[in-house]
Amino acid sequence: MCGIIGGICKKNITPLLLKGLKRLEYRGYDSAGLVVLTTDNTLQRVREAGKVDNLVSNIDAQNLDGKVGIAHTRWATHGKPSTKNAHPHICNNSVGVVHNGIIENFLALKSEQQKQNYHFTSDTDTEVIAHGIHLALQTCENLLEATQKAIKTFAGAYSIGVISPTNPGHIIAARSGSPLIIGVGKYGNFITSDQVALLDVTKQFIFLEEGDIADISANSISIFDKNGLQVEREIKTSKLKNGQISKGNYAHYMQKEIFEQPQAISDTLESRITKDKVMIEAFGNDAQQIFQQVEHIQIIACGTSYNAGLVAKYWLEDIAKIPTHIEVASEYRYRNPVILDNTLFITISQSGETADTLEALRSVKKRNAAVHSLTICNSAESSLVCESELTFLTHAGVEIGVASTKTFTTQLVALALLSVVIGKCQKQVSEQQEKVIVDGLKRLPGLIAKALEQEGQIIKLAKTFKNKFNALFLGRGAMHAIAMEGALKLKEISYIHAEAYPAGELKHGPIALIDRDTPVIAIAPKDELLDKLKSNLQEVKSRGSHMIVFEDEASNVAPMEGMDIIPITHNLGRITAPIIFTIPLQLLSYHAALIKGTDVDQPRNLAKSVTVE
Ligand code: AGP
Repeated sequence: MCGIIGGICKKNITPLLLKGLKRLEYRGYDSAGLVVLTTDNTLQRVREAGKVDNLVSNIDAQNLDGKVGIAHTRWATHGKPSTKNAHPHICNNSVGVVHNGIIENFLALKSEQQKQNYHFTSDTDTEVIAHGIHLALQTCENLLEATQKAIKTFAGAYSIGVISPTNPGHIIAARSGSPLIIGVGKYGNFITSDQVALLDVTKQFIFLEEGDIADISANSISIFDKNGLQVEREIKTSKLKNGQISKGNYAHYMQKEIFEQPQAISDTLESRITKDKVMIEAFGNDAQQIFQQVEHIQIIACGTSYNAGLVAKYWLEDIAKIPTHIEVASEYRYRNPVILDNTLFITISQSGETADTLEALRSVKKRNAAVHSLTICNSAESSLVCESELTFLTHAGVEIGVASTKTFTTQLVALALLSVVIGKCQKQVSEQQEKVIVDGLKRLPGLIAKALEQEGQIIKLAKTFKNKFNALFLGRGAMHAIAMEGALKLKEISYIHAEAYPAGELKHGPIALIDRDTPVIAIAPKDELLDKLKSNLQEVKSRGSHMIVFEDEASNVAPMEGMDIIPITHNLGRITAPIIFTIPLQLLSYHAALIKGTDVDQPRNLAKSVTVE
């Protein structure tokens, strides 16, 4: 949700800013811009609507020469995507600002600033930051003090980078509600929304904490906390490798990430299971004690992570026998839920920075101190990890495609492990049951590799979607959640309207949607609901739809005219089945999107990490 990069070093910063913006483009890609402090100490800005490539082709990087600069790739909130709304925003050629987040009181600030003759040239909330700091500079010693003074007037969420000819050797960086990281280099220092943007110049990072403000020069970094006290923050060495953020031989990041799933799942299981047991400590040192006390579970998440939580509800109630509720974070945070003592509050998030999920966690902690929190997250240094009592990190690796794939299946693995350990702590899971589940989890990388072999057949099926605008996904039990994830994938990358229904619910309304132009995709595992599902498939078939059925070989769905049946594997268990049946749905969406000709890795209107409301 907007990407920031900035730096101050001993050589021209522009090429680094442009390269960094490309790497941050997954965070937002409707416009981009940069401003550098040139050798004659003036702010020189270039902005373009559209993707970073538009900016790159309009900049002569060698001739835009400055050693200090900040840059931004935008996901629009206030003000439509356009050049005038692109960041950086500048006030009186004196203050340049890039911003990620939303200034909620910008209208009040704008009206105040207009009274003081500040002229607005954009529709953004960000412009009040530039004017606010400029105003403060009139009475402050330097840019740091001015920024400290101005941010006291801002309500909302922000991470910002600020430069000014008034203090040419400095970048000021501040974080409140949106992530910001300092890169510590040999020949300069940098700021970024995500480490991946800086891996060419450093692996040493400082993760700013909430309310921190930093004064950064080429050879010094001073950090002040929310009370204005100077603090030391640990420098951490990133384990990321540059190779992890390339597409390799794949056409898209999404395709690469789909095919990385066997490895991602092995990595997530590594050191979390022994021969036939799940290690409770994998969830934190206090996990055993907390899981023994738990009486209720509340899961909160958004999008794909929410769909993973829906699957977990089935598992946690079935295996651990704990009443489990799940809700999307954006709703939960704004209502007055009854929060019982001894509730385990689980957040699930790839990024760990999703604003709605984070705020839901914060609100729960304020309402009831007797809840425990656990986050299942793919980002080790994220806010959710920092603010949760227990953490389980999925080891999916960097996911760049906006559509989540490997992070979903690794979340499911984490939630399966969780169901077992809570079940053990509650004395609901026998050693034999645990062994069966662990054996199933160990088979996953091989089973996924096998499911991926169906790509050729799925490519043929994807052609069905060429002139289609609607699709229906059906599943029963936990497979309804997998159907929801399949529908979400198809929607977000191919722009085909897709709905998912529990197959038994069809006859209560949605069956009216079925016609020849609405393909129906069904998931048919061999489970206790299979016969019911088969009857539902008959109901659909008699209405003339083209059907695609992904089945367990043991399901033996009877072939019918207009129905494609694709066996995915055979005799899957209740834990492995939802994970394996996700794979053909991911491939189907990917290839349908290719046929529709959409931008698979950067679908319209979306951003990878949603750090605003
Ligand atoms: C799904 O493909 C999307 N990337 C989106 O729904 C995502 O899962 C959601 O925004 C939540 O993000 P998080 O997992 O980083 O919290």
